[in-house]
Amino acid sequence: MSDENLSPTLDWRDGTPIATRFDDPYFSLASGPEETRHTFLAGNDLPARLCAGFHIAELGFGTGLNALVTAAAWRGAGRLRYTAFEAYPMALDDMARALAAFPEIDANALLDQWPSDRIALPGVDLEVVRGDVRETLPVWTGRADAWFLDGFAPAKNPEMWEPCLMVEVARHTAPRGTFATYTAAGHVRRALAEAGFTVRRVPGYGRKRHMSRGVLA
Ligand SMILES: C[S@@+](CC[C@H](N)C(=O)[O-])C[C@H]1O[C@@H](n2cnc3c(N)ncnc32)[C@H](O)[C@@H]1O
Repeated sequence: MSDENLSPTLDWRDGTPIATRFDDPYFSLASGPEETRHTFLAGNDLPARLCAGFHIAELGFGTGLNALVTAAAWRGAGRLRYTAFEAYPMALDDMARALAAFPEIDANALLDQWPSDRIALPGVDLEVVRGDVRETLPVWTGRADAWFLDGFAPAKNPEMWEPCLMVEVARHTAPRGTFATYTAAGHVRRALAEAGFTVRRVPGYGRKRHMSRGVLA
């Protein structure tokens, strides 16, 4: 099947793309980049830990917003690695429309190269691993220093939060590597703890009271 056939069907609400299949938004328009910086960057002690060769992995590439915000936060010499797992790659037009809501974020390099699997962003080598992450992560040979766990809401997209997938996340984490996610759902925190992370519940962004972060014990 071609990627075009797998592209998600979207609804749009106030400029925010909603995945029809999951009935959930890719991000909240009210927050966008700020939420990425709070939840995924600060939740992994970034950008302070960034250095050349630092490897970030993401469950759920979506619009690419998290990757672009990360690239914008990296000011050092050398290049970061960013591996994103995505089952339903967005159509180029939809990605451009979604990212147009954030004119302060330079999306040109991503949009010029999408839907290539390997994309050179400023300062970042991005790889997009296509397919259901329950199949692609177990056979991935990499190890991330920091994970962005960004599936849709656990109640709507439970396959992105299964305990056996969290075991694979831990197995593909470098020693003392970290994760961050916007959800504080008890079953997700328990699964991550059982997989080997020391998990903390911390204040979330905006109206989200809590999020979760952790370090591989
Ligand atoms: C909340 S969105 C991610 C938003 C994204 N990080 C961004 O910056 O725009 C969740 C993503 O998970 C993807 N997804 C859902 N189930 C998946 C699965 N089983 N395997 C891989 N990706 C999946 C969806 O297609 C969607 O792009």
